[in-house]
Amino acid sequence: MRSVITGTGIGLASHVVMNEDLARIMDTSDEWIRSRSGIQQRNYAAPGQGSAELGSLAASAAIAKAGLMPTDIDAVIFATMTPDHVLPGNGPLLQAALGLRNIPTFDIRQQCSGFLYGLELADVLVQSGRYPRVLLVGAELHTGFMPWHLGWDTVIGESDREVTEAEKAENTLSRDRTVLFGDGAGAAVIEAREGSAGLLKTLLFTDGTGAGVLTMKGASFKTRPFVTPAQIEAGETIPVMQGKEVFRSAVTLMPQAVRDVCSAAGVAVESLGLVLVHQANLRIIEGVQKALGLPAEKVPHNIERYGNTTAATLPILYHECLEKGLVEPGMLIAFTALGSGMHWGAALYRA
Ligand code: ACO
Repeated sequence: MRSVITGTGIGLASHVVMNEDLARIMDTSDEWIRSRSGIQQRNYAAPGQGSAELGSLAASAAIAKAGLMPTDIDAVIFATMTPDHVLPGNGPLLQAALGLRNIPTFDIRQQCSGFLYGLELADVLVQSGRYPRVLLVGAELHTGFMPWHLGWDTVIGESDREVTEAEKAENTLSRDRTVLFGDGAGAAVIEAREGSAGLLKTLLFTDGTGAGVLTMKGASFKTRPFVTPAQIEAGETIPVMQGKEVFRSAVTLMPQAVRDVCSAAGVAVESLGLVLVHQANLRIIEGVQKALGLPAEKVPHNIERYGNTTAATLPILYHECLEKGLVEPGMLIAFTALGSGMHWGAALYRA
């Protein structure tokens, strides 16, 4: 008996924002963003829309694709670092929105590795026999981090107002991070099935000594109150990232995790049909592909269209691979991710 992904779905935020739109409100350019990250556009949610709503859209589609009713789901795992509220988590919001039974919902927060961690947890729940049908959701709403009160309407095309030079200067302070992220959601239904298809092996890692490499200093329960005007003023409610350090870790630890998960399952890296890499930067994805010695067509990407959607990148990418017919029955697929924590790992799956 294995844990099989029987349905996937995605939930995209409504506003498509091009690199040129960002260049209207900060000192950046399409050329810089494209050459450093591969990103051409990303989706931003409408004001008032949250990651629970995007996750619910993706989840509804995944449940329908699996041929199930919402009431068939036995447990929910919701991975996000950008929940609607500090409390409660997104799980209960999704449970109510979709009309699920009063089943357990688990909110997890492993940032870019959220979907990978969720796969492992789903496998354990399914294999226990206690939760045969698990709904796994990865959803993010990064725009809440962004200081778009200084040009939000302009960037989503709802105003022609040109931002002032002072506003532009302030938006530019966080340009190394804000241009990289987008909003979105992906979901998968995971069920127990007889046969050779399903999750074969997962390896997960944490190194908390790297917690400061990608973190958000403000909005912390170590301060009283947990968020202050001074923190907002100082930009501490926007995550800080040591970009080069994350980059270096990503291009070494993700290929190593893929090699290790293949070795643990007794399969050769060359026999992988697809490697689905967390979509943070096209240069990282290409670095992983080269380190594994695989042809580019085995390592697909969609970062150019969505940017980094953190816990949502892997389920959105897998869904699109299915839709494009890239996934063949029996194909070996590796999923890998690395992000804030630091958390990273890889999962091996047979389609
Ligand atoms: N537009 C124009 N110029 C910019 C921008 C921008 N948006 N952002 C930074 N710059 C400037 C910098 O100020 C710097 O200027 P200077 O040389 O005059 O000082 C210059 O561009 C070069 O910046 P670098 O930091 O050297 O650029 P780099 O090539 O390292 O790329 C990047 C930066 C894209 C952030 C890269 O390091 C990266 O992708 N890192 C990994 C990020 C990642 O993987 N995150 C995933 C985890 S996310 C999660 O877990 C939630």
